[in-house]
Amino acid sequence: MRLLVTGGCGFIGSNFIRYVLGEHPEDEVLNLDKLTYAGNPLNLRDVEKDPRYQFQRGDICEEEDVRKAFRWKPDAVVNFAAETHVDRSISDPEAFVRTDVLGTLRLLRVSLEAGVRYVQISTDEVYGSIEEGSFTEESPLRPNSPYAASKASADLLVRSFVRTYGLDAVIVRSSNNYGPYQYPEKVIPLFVTNLLEGRKVPLYGEGRNVRDWLYVEDNCRAIDLVLRRGESGGVYNVGAGQEMTNLELARAILALLGKGEECIQHVPDRPGHDLRYSVDSTRVRSMGWEPRYDFRSGLRETVRWYRENEGWWKPIKSGEFREYYLKRYGDV
Ligand code: NAD
Ligand code: DAU
Repeated sequence: MRLLVTGGCGFIGSNFIRYVLGEHPEDEVLNLDKLTYAGNPLNLRDVEKDPRYQFQRGDICEEEDVRKAFRWKPDAVVNFAAETHVDRSISDPEAFVRTDVLGTLRLLRVSLEAGVRYVQISTDEVYGSIEEGSFTEESPLRPNSPYAASKASADLLVRSFVRTYGLDAVIVRSSNNYGPYQYPEKVIPLFVTNLLEGRKVPLYGEGRNVRDWLYVEDNCRAIDLVLRRGESGGVYNVGAGQEMTNLELARAILALLGKGEECIQHVPDRPGHDLRYSVDSTRVRSMGWEPRYDFRSGLRETVRWYRENEGWWKPIKSGEFREYYLKRYGDV
């Protein structure tokens, strides 16, 4: 299969490309990525020389960039490209609407013209917060942050292209991912690298919010399954069933790094902070998927990776990210 992967220099996209090239020797990948602050070509250094892999720098919002990628004649498109950080969407929502909504529209139109399968990488956040139970794929979309609203809008556009034009498209809505190559603004790599640097971890509010932690390789396996076997027009939730509060998460990370509770710094809460995300993954599980990593083994592997790859995250934390971080938290 010839796969056009967008946003492949980010966290999940780069793990997905590595996964596909490893699992499917006959596959080829073209990675279209704008290289925003979150896109890092070093995430794919180990596959760069693989003759089955190509990179094109480009923006999914720009028609010419997208058309150029389609001249490579992909069989399918997997769209990871997005602005992804909730806190950034609160301070600058426009960039989110541009890439996550207009960029998706651009890809949908060209995919339809080319007659290829389209996979939209979405998120459990489109359903909003749930205090008890879990959302199914039929639950209404009630996004609460500008990020979630832009992702929900994209999902609705995908739905409309399936219904109106008969596009062969599927949507994957995953829970919180963690693992190697995650940009250290997201909570797990932020906490791990802060502790490795001898800093504290900034916990929002009381740390009562609940997330369901999915190891990135498990998510990649689910996406790959839906890409190849998902029913056209189908939506697939992917959750690990490993929910915990942020305080429990912080404690698990502290324990692995041999640190005490004094390293937790409570900071003001995120505005509109969703209390709990939870999705029912029965549909993808009935196709034979289940997570292979429990949270303990996934977190151990993640901490090991950040310990052994200071050369990857230290330049990020001392560069542009440092400005952003100091503005948010001061010198925590
Ligand atoms: P990320 O922020 O690490 O990477 C995003 C990538 O997209 C970067 O490489 C960036 O350069 C690229 N990009 C941004 N704007 C672009 C544009 N206009 N044109 C081309 N490329 C562009 O993101 P991630 O955490 O790997 O998330 C990937 C996808 O998965 C997103 O769609 C996100 O909404 C979704 N998702 C993420 C999680 C999670 O926990 N990280 C969970 C569920 C769903
Ligand atoms: O649920 C899937 C989503 O998970 C993805 O769609 C998003 O792209 C991804 O960013 C992530 O969103 P979250 O807001 O859940 O992730 P984040 O890592 O930003 O925060 C996780 C939890 O930790 C959340 O409840 C807020 C809290 N937190 C976060 C940061 C950055 C803190 O307590 N302190 C922090 O410094």
